[in-house]
Amino acid sequence: MSLAHGVRTVGILGAGQMGTGIALVSALRAKVPVLLYDRSSEQVTKGLSLMDKLLAKDVAKGRITDEQAKDARDRVQVVGSEAGLKGFRDVDMVIEAVSENLALKQSIFSSLTAELGPDAILATNTSSISITKIAAAAIPQGSNAASEDAKRSAGRVVGLHFFNPVPVMKLVELISALQTTPEVLDRTRAFAVACGKEVTTSKDVPGFVSNALLMPFINEAIMCLEKGTATREDIDTTLKLGMNHPMGPLQLADFIGLDTCLAIQQTLYEGTRDSKYRPSVLLERMVDAQWYGRKNGKGFYEYN
Ligand code: CAA
Repeated sequence: MSLAHGVRTVGILGAGQMGTGIALVSALRAKVPVLLYDRSSEQVTKGLSLMDKLLAKDVAKGRITDEQAKDARDRVQVVGSEAGLKGFRDVDMVIEAVSENLALKQSIFSSLTAELGPDAILATNTSSISITKIAAAAIPQGSNAASEDAKRSAGRVVGLHFFNPVPVMKLVELISALQTTPEVLDRTRAFAVACGKEVTTSKDVPGFVSNALLMPFINEAIMCLEKGTATREDIDTTLKLGMNHPMGPLQLADFIGLDTCLAIQQTLYEGTRDSKYRPSVLLERMVDAQWYGRKNGKGFYEYN
């Protein structure tokens, strides 16, 4: 195993679709022991059962052996709710994959910085929130941001943005906060490569490259539907067959989660103050109605 990343154990925070996928590629591809934590034990059970299903499918398709699947599964251990974030005390890297909520991420990074060793990397899988803001939350309370202690704490925070479904999508976007050190950036890149991913780098701007381009596209598709330009099927089929996209934009929005799409669009709009990023009213109303897409059965389409 290449130790260029120096990660002997990784902690994954959040066992939703992203966290579960990241745990899987870490255990199967990077072959690194994984500690998985989610404050909802129900979510952990769901995540582990998805992982079992995906490993069994890889075995059935002859991509990996039974033994490789078992080894990968054995590398994943769950951190119980009693231990909470303290369970990550000895890991060399934490990848946070909780929902797109700045206050939540700030509180997590503030706690992590107190628990983890000085060389541990604190990575966030955020899709759009400023890594620099999250890094500032890792500075110990009361420290001057220019002090050596503060520079060390914030310097180990980095953006590591995976794509859904993580086991299938080949890309990871790497984002440096203003504070991130070059060493942390290099080690994080090496870890993503060990997970089997190609890495692109983006500056810390709202949405980075991926969502600064994808979300206006999805938003325009929703506005087309809102204006009655075409049916949901015709909008999606136009992009699927006319442009060879694997999914139409409305299907993709349902796949990502409409609540996540709205949260990202709000971050883009607030972060740039540019009206081209204003979320469509229809998207806002659908989230008001708690229609979140595939994850809860109703979005632009219905799912069983
Ligand atoms: N988890 C894991 N694997 C999944 C999956 C999931 N949720 N959904 C599908 N797959 C796997 C399937 O099991 C299948 O694997 P095998 O080759 O081993 O059989 C493979 O993906 C292809 O699936 P299907 O044949 O069922 O269907 P498909 O050919 O239509 O592909 C897809 C499904 C890969 C999801 C494809 O439609 C696709 O690439 N869609 C676009 C996805 C995309 O753009 N993702 C990025 C979203 S943006 C994001 O994540 C970041 C952000 O910040 C918002």
